Amino acid sequence: INIFVEDKSGNRQHIEIPTDINLNLMEVLKASEYPVLGTCGGMALCATCHVEVLEGDNLNPPQDQELDMLDTLPAITSGSRLACQIPVRENINGIVVKVLTE
Ligand code: FES
Repeated sequence: INIFVEDKSGNRQHIEIPTDINLNLMEVLKASEYPVLGTCGGMALCATCHVEVLEGDNLNPPQDQELDMLDTLPAITSGSRLACQIPVRENINGIVVKVLTE
């Protein structure tokens, strides 16, 4: 699975993730040393994994808990997601996400 990650300055990096891995996008970004804290451990309760999906049409849609959490943020865009709520599966292949936390 290939994904592309942009940091706040717009630098884009390609990350290749093995297909058989059972992780979510927050865990991948954290492991790649992006400023993603994941304080709540992936429970959609902290929003420290806020990302903007720039490209990616096949993602699993956000559930109510994620939408409620996103609503608490001061600034969101139409592409805002909590990375912990995006499982790493084939359907995310090719996505481009921007890390919005610092
Ligand atoms: Fe807390 Fe994603 S890690 S909301």
